[in-house]
Amino acid sequence: MYRSTAVNLARTSKQSARALSSIAKRPALRAALNNLNTLPKTTQSVRGLKKINFAGVEEVVHERADWPREKLLEYFKNDTMALIGYGSQGYGQGLNLRDNGLNVIIGVREGGASWKAAIEDGWVPGENLFPIKEAIAKGTIIMNLLSDAAQSATWPELKPLITEGKTLYFSHGFSPVFKELTKVDPPTNVDVILAAPKGSGRTVRSLFKEGRGINSSYAVWNDVTGKAEERAIALAVAIGSGYIYQTTFEKEVYSDLYGERGCLMGGIHGMFLAQYEVLRENGHSPSEAFNETVEEATQSLYPLIGKYGMDYMYDACSTTARRGALDWYPVFKDNLKPVFQKLYASVRDGSETQRSLDFNSQPNYREELEKELEIIRNMEIWRVGKEVRKLRPENN
Ligand SMILES: NC(=O)c1ccc[n+]([C@@H]2O[C@H](COP(=O)([O-])OP(=O)(O)OC[C@H]3O[C@@H](n4cnc5c(N)ncnc54)[C@H](OP(=O)(O)O)[C@@H]3O)[C@@H](O)[C@H]2O)c1
Repeated sequence: MYRSTAVNLARTSKQSARALSSIAKRPALRAALNNLNTLPKTTQSVRGLKKINFAGVEEVVHERADWPREKLLEYFKNDTMALIGYGSQGYGQGLNLRDNGLNVIIGVREGGASWKAAIEDGWVPGENLFPIKEAIAKGTIIMNLLSDAAQSATWPELKPLITEGKTLYFSHGFSPVFKELTKVDPPTNVDVILAAPKGSGRTVRSLFKEGRGINSSYAVWNDVTGKAEERAIALAVAIGSGYIYQTTFEKEVYSDLYGERGCLMGGIHGMFLAQYEVLRENGHSPSEAFNETVEEATQSLYPLIGKYGMDYMYDACSTTARRGALDWYPVFKDNLKPVFQKLYASVRDGSETQRSLDFNSQPNYREELEKELEIIRNMEIWRVGKEVRKLRPENN
């Protein structure tokens, strides 16, 4: 049911001419292609963007072109960044800071998995790799990138080390916003800032290596020096961000917890399962149910939404598909909205935070997580997915 206009364009000149004439008659496609021509080739090419109008709402967005490397080096020349924790974000942010030439040290539990991983990545014990408390003592900017549960567990020991003159940095609003539950109450005499990359640490690193920057948000919790905002933006650039959106600690954590439980992960998984099960209950084969639920979504249609927008995706599909989808999306929205409202309330009242702390601070949390992932791995839908992936065109 899906016709790729992009593929049509690439075929023969005759076909291209036909496709172009069809695009000329379709406003959404035309607009998307026009936009392609006006988009910046690299983030470096647009400077000084500070306020951007998003559908009528003006928002503050900073960009890395305002912070070239020389300026970062000058700005942070007296700082030592003590990056605590070397998991997903510690790895990505730490290596990017190091490659940017900044003075960064890592603080992790001696002998633990992260300690070993840091050594493999070239951090040297006693030189730029230290036990956590030692790193904090040496640092002027303390970047708390322990897991959220670990931030809570270690806070009583770490808090006294975050003394006046240092800056405290987070990549998630979780710990301070839910301080009644996490007990992480940042000192009031230091700047407390946030830069939260919108992606995993692996992506923070891979985009940096490609010469691009991940999008991040930034926020200020405490501003004792009057420079906290500027420091947050500069640090966001230093860790490898491209565009940096202004937010608050509260908004960052509420939207993040909500989004990952909703459309980003939990919601989409639930929707895939529901659709697949109904197809199977009605006699469709596993491969047909999978292809119509996941494969076409992830391989054909979702990339179009990501690249050009929802209207483009509708426009690129058959009239039959388009009519049905236009009729059914309000039904899904109306039925799902109460679930999203319940979810948002559960985030706001701290229930999701408490659940996360309870689960992730168990000593055997990795084993418990593995049990749940094993259940997903063994679901028919995802076992079918493994086979379908082998048959993709690129594997022919
Ligand atoms: N992952 C993402 O995609 C992402 C994206 C944006 C923001 N963030 C935020 O970034 C921060 C770091 O997240 P992450 O995903 O990078 O964390 P993570 O991968 O879960 O990192 C865990 C780190 O915490 C350490 N740790 C765990 N328990 C500890 C304890 N009891 N004492 C001392 N160290 C302990 C681990 O060290 P050992 O190896 O020694 O156990 C490891 O270095 C969080 O605030 C998170 O919300 C994450």
